[in-house]
Amino acid sequence: MPLPPAIPPGVPWTSPHGPDGFDVAAGARGVLEGNWREGDYRGRHYAFSVPSPRSYPWQWYWDSCFHAIVRSRYDPGRARAELLTLLAAMREDGFIGHTVLWGRPLDLQRAVRYNIASRADLMTSTIQPPIIAWAWARARGDPGADAAARAGLERHHAWLDAHRDLDGDGLLWLIQPDESGMDASPKFDHVWGRRSQGRVLFPALIHANRRRGFDARRIAAAGGPVVCEVLTNTIWSLSEQALGRPSRTPALLDRLWDESAGRFFDDVRGAVRPLPGPRRPVTWDTLAPLALSDLPDAIADRLIEEVLLAPRFADGVPLPAVALDDPTHSSRETWWGRHRHWRGPSWVNSLWLVSLGLRRRGRGDLADALAARLTPVVAREGFREYYEARTGAGMGAHDFGWSTLLWDLVDPVPPAFGPA
Ligand code: GLC
Repeated sequence: MPLPPAIPPGVPWTSPHGPDGFDVAAGARGVLEGNWREGDYRGRHYAFSVPSPRSYPWQWYWDSCFHAIVRSRYDPGRARAELLTLLAAMREDGFIGHTVLWGRPLDLQRAVRYNIASRADLMTSTIQPPIIAWAWARARGDPGADAAARAGLERHHAWLDAHRDLDGDGLLWLIQPDESGMDASPKFDHVWGRRSQGRVLFPALIHANRRRGFDARRIAAAGGPVVCEVLTNTIWSLSEQALGRPSRTPALLDRLWDESAGRFFDDVRGAVRPLPGPRRPVTWDTLAPLALSDLPDAIADRLIEEVLLAPRFADGVPLPAVALDDPTHSSRETWWGRHRHWRGPSWVNSLWLVSLGLRRRGRGDLADALAARLTPVVAREGFREYYEARTGAGMGAHDFGWSTLLWDLVDPVPPAFGPA
């Protein structure tokens, strides 16, 4: 199905790989190289790309995994080094934090907003979508075949299993919205209310979770909230399969797919304002399971036809974080001076995950069309953190690492290991 043009007039758009003069590959390499940091800290070596030099000066877990996937196209050695750096931060028990503070500790101003137990910590005490094993497979090949990777990844997965699989069905639970990677998504408004990310009482949530040792079982026992989240568990299934373990997709379908609504919904306990799935905001992550090779075709087709190609998503610069017509959709970047991400504008990593599923299902035409719509926006605005969903105006951080996934969108390469 042809997509309606959403690129504002005046933007040159002359080839499927981008406007003349815009070299996606060179641009992407420039960003990743400019953001590269290497050194020694507390007796460990680190080597990775920061998400953005000014806004995000440390190592972010899932950002680094996306960086490694792109970097593996031209520098497999450093892609491996970036993933090994995450593993080097791992605690003895297998925990890896959302943000690893290589080089210098947190400043006081950030310390109230970051999920640290103490300012002396090397990393935060919360997680991000556990994508490293799958990223290893895509970037480097079979993680089981690399001795340096395998033991670490297995220990990490064992920690996640032991501490976050609250019901024993193979799915993980989150204790804070930022653990999903989609910090202030409106899908969490009913869960955390005024304690949502970027709102005035967010530090109170961090404080309460810190008192409980950021321990999901203790938090759940105290009434939560805790969330069994769609994107996190999609990524968990991908990573588990990359390690040769049973797919988590059947459990994800059992618990999170709503056949009558035709969408995936988080399972939530202890919400401040409980809301049934169909009354929640329509957010892009319902499309994330398209990345799963074992998603049943009937569900994939429904998601593509009824969600992705509906004007509420298809009319936007791909891929809006929130449906354009959803009452919660907003382009506001901040709330009382704090960033509130994932409330409307479009992100490159979401489109990339969805496009993998499109190509696998023989919808490469659609994946190409979506990439061709995003490319002139990036050519004009640069590799920004996200883009206003109707105009494509660049927003958030500059020289943003994972937006280089655009390279993989316009010129996809098969994964080094695992299903295409
Ligand atoms: C924002 C995003 C998060 C990302 C981080 C660093 O907080 O919501 O997903 O990891 O920035 O780029």
